[in-house]
Amino acid sequence: MGAVMYERAVRRTLFRLGGGDAEVAHERTLAALATLGRATPVLRGLRRLLAVPAPREVFGVRFPSPVGLAAGLDKNGVALRAWPALGFGFVEVGTVTRHAQPGNPRPRLFRLVESGAIINRMGFNNHGADALAARLRALGPIGVPLGISIGKSKITPVEDAVGDYVFSMRVLRPYADYFAVNVSSPNTPGLRSLQDRGALDGLLRVLRTEAGETPLVVKIAPDLTDTAIGEVLEVCAEHRVDGLIATNTTIGRDGLAPGDQGRASEAGGLSGRPLTERSREVVGFVHREAPDLPVIGVGGIATVDDALRMLDAGASLLQLYSGFIYGGPPLVRAINRAVAQRK
Ligand code: FNR
Repeated sequence: MGAVMYERAVRRTLFRLGGGDAEVAHERTLAALATLGRATPVLRGLRRLLAVPAPREVFGVRFPSPVGLAAGLDKNGVALRAWPALGFGFVEVGTVTRHAQPGNPRPRLFRLVESGAIINRMGFNNHGADALAARLRALGPIGVPLGISIGKSKITPVEDAVGDYVFSMRVLRPYADYFAVNVSSPNTPGLRSLQDRGALDGLLRVLRTEAGETPLVVKIAPDLTDTAIGEVLEVCAEHRVDGLIATNTTIGRDGLAPGDQGRASEAGGLSGRPLTERSREVVGFVHREAPDLPVIGVGGIATVDDALRMLDAGASLLQLYSGFIYGGPPLVRAINRAVAQRK
């Protein structure tokens, strides 16, 4: 199915689910994908149809193709078997926290269609690290690398954050092909202060040891200055961090279409097209400053061209969230084909 047909038929239907409430639509789609995930022959057929091999090895892990599902879409790992069938070469589950938590009050998820964007202030709603570990144990391997994104519970004071991350890492280590340390979500008060040199140093010192041989990557915000990113890179080098994910959502509101200006005052992180350039800029900066450090490029990848330019900026792998909400599996397939053809 092509991009236009996807938009006209599938996306239209999905966006209408729940009377236009974006979170209800999200939940129903995930539930459908979870059901799909139990239909093994269908999965196999879909994967044959949608997945395009474009293999690469990054931080010692073999990825069948470079486009991954970004953190936050399947926080609890309920549809993990469906993602490879839809063409993703890896999946990042979470962000998960030590304690199960409900997240912020609804509404907390807004589609800004004219801008190709999303604003969210979900606040790490998730079932907790123990529940995710139990699900992953029952599920077994999903056929593509699995990244696990870990964060801080809301009730844990930021001074005690290290213990929270360590707890999640210990219970989830058997299932992770890599760990993503999320210190960049704007929706947990104080979390982003963990990107500061001193706090990050304390956190990564402990997590590097806890992670053992499992690759450890750090996810950063697009709102950091060059100086702050430089400091993050120094701390990452010191603790032998294996890679960076750039970027998370922005607290900025630049680049919204006229029809979406009314939404600009909604609190939360902005993702999608308004983020394309800034994320690419951050990836380029990181790559110039630390050419040997693998970067997962994420933020506003909405077209094949966006994806190729992110790779040209220095990304080793890519992730999609908003672009997938608007473009669906045809976008994943188109990017993988373009990457495979380029080689
Ligand atoms: C996110 N993102 C996110 N990131 C993360 O590290 N942990 C998380 O739990 C979440 N949750 C989340 C929820 C929602 C609704 C959105 C839209 C995004 C950020 C996401 O992984 C990605 O970094 C940004 O959205 C930028 O990429 P896109 O959306 O522009 O492709």
